Amino acid sequence: MNTSLNKSNEKIFITGGTQLKGNVRISGAKNAALPLMALSLIINKGFTLSNMPDLADTRLMSNLLGDLGINVSWSFGKVIFNGSPKTNEASYDLVRQMRASILVLGPLLASKGSARVPLPGGCAIGTRPIDLHVLVMEALGANVYYDSGFIIASTGPEGLKGGLINFPKVSVGATESAIMTSVLAKGKTTIQNAAQEPEIVDLAKCLISAGANISGVGTSTIVINGVEKLYSVVREIVPDRIEAGSFAIASSMTKGNIEITHIRPEDLECFLKVLKFTGSEIKIDKNSIKVISFKRSEPYDIVTEAHPGFPTDLQAQYMALMSISDGNSSIKENIFENRFMHVPELLRMGANITINNQIASIIGVKELKGSKVMASDLRASMSLILGALAASGSSEIDGIYHLDRGYEKIEDKLSNLGAIIRRSK
Ligand code: UD1
Repeated sequence: MNTSLNKSNEKIFITGGTQLKGNVRISGAKNAALPLMALSLIINKGFTLSNMPDLADTRLMSNLLGDLGINVSWSFGKVIFNGSPKTNEASYDLVRQMRASILVLGPLLASKGSARVPLPGGCAIGTRPIDLHVLVMEALGANVYYDSGFIIASTGPEGLKGGLINFPKVSVGATESAIMTSVLAKGKTTIQNAAQEPEIVDLAKCLISAGANISGVGTSTIVINGVEKLYSVVREIVPDRIEAGSFAIASSMTKGNIEITHIRPEDLECFLKVLKFTGSEIKIDKNSIKVISFKRSEPYDIVTEAHPGFPTDLQAQYMALMSISDGNSSIKENIFENRFMHVPELLRMGANITINNQIASIIGVKELKGSKVMASDLRASMSLILGALAASGSSEIDGIYHLDRGYEKIEDKLSNLGAIIRRSK
């Protein structure tokens, strides 16, 4: 695995039309791992995370923390962090490669009393501002300004102070910033309109076991009473619900029979209900699900929403499924303004989709046809893989480095299920 985003011209080749069958073990969640890793800036000795997915994004976060002075050691899915940050300035070259790098801002500020973090910039799925992260720092008493492409934040001599953080918009990352930055602030912090994603609950649970005082997590109001110190903990990263959902769709699209193991089905409740409405048979067990499909999917309209609604991170994959459903459907993207980059590529495969503002209208076609396509972002690349798996003929998918940001050993996992897939330079 490369330690930074390798924008090489690797491609994935898939010969479609194979029914996928068997078991697949889901990895730890990238979106849970990244904020947990940032905690190493405020939990200083022997902090350990297991079930760590080996991905371009987690390796990049590891490098960023290493560059800040944390000693990070990886061994078979276990990562141990030691030491405290030695500098308050995050590397531009690393931060610019991953938007989630903004998650180091709050912990760095809490640890050093000041932080200089480059603006992470936009990305293909939208402008993705960071104003809500800045709102967090200011609500906790920091002075924040921008200079030469950096966000510069500093506290007074008294350090961070608890305060009221009332988000005008629900944000996963900003809620995580608010939790991580306020756990060591003096006094009480109230976070209103907080996001409720399972990864946020997991972050708070990790902090609670490290000694933090947090209540209300998993609801829209979180209350934190600052503590003096956090203690080292060992924590297992929760399973990746988005990876699990992607494999569930792979089963539906290939009339397959896939058992998806090492997951928490409760994190996928809304998604699994939708998949059931489309006609797939779903057997839910404690830590696994089985998705069986015998016929072409039925159309079903969705709207993406913050948790517990339908996740935006499964929208592109669900669109691939709807593109071969037996009828018309619509998908409204509510979270990001430009998250339909996969549409032109699905059209190349023969899908019939039109976009009007934030709504995609899909007329299901009988089958997709293998094509040369280009991935534009992480989840878009998975939707093209899914399209190619179900299509007749062969596909060539370019821009695969996006996929490596969030799907661990994807070719191995798919070929174990019977897919004809290979990667080449
Ligand atoms: C996280 C996930 C990403 C997922 C997204 C929504 C990680 C590492 N990434 O991203 O996979 O798609 O949640 O579930 O966990 N916004 C602002 N100002 C801000 C921050 C966000 O306006 O300061 C807006 C965004 O542009 C977007 C909306 O808020 O329209 C939600 O974004 P947010 O929940 O913050 O997404 P991320 O945390 O970046």
